[in-house]
Amino acid sequence: MKAYLTRRYHFSASHRLNNDAFSAEKNRVVYGKCNNPHGHGHNYVAEVTLCGEVDPATGMVCNLADLDMFARTNLLDAFDHMNLNTLKCFANLVPTTENLTIEIFRRFQSGFSHAHLERVRVEETGNNSFEYAG
Ligand code: NI
Repeated sequence: MKAYLTRRYHFSASHRLNNDAFSAEKNRVVYGKCNNPHGHGHNYVAEVTLCGEVDPATGMVCNLADLDMFARTNLLDAFDHMNLNTLKCFANLVPTTENLTIEIFRRFQSGFSHAHLERVRVEETGNNSFEYAG
């Protein structure tokens, strides 16, 4: 019996969209206001979905306490109140929310032994969200 578990996490971070391979003018054209040199912040919501067999003994796909502990270390401590541009994972990658979603997926991919990571969805604003499923 397979089931899906989705947990939401909230964090705030700033970014500036800029590709070092582009000229300053091209960066302004491509990224518009998001290329502002001082950056800007978002209150992100990350939804992590795990899929797995319901453990007959516990009745769970994954213990929420284990998922929260993993998310504390690998998501919240890593990204909350950070400037994404300064992080190692974005040293050579524009910190768009597409790339952030893929990075969060990569971090959660190997975190769980019984459940597997199905999908990560990140809301950047009330109007934008991004999904990655591997
Ligand atoms: Ni932005």
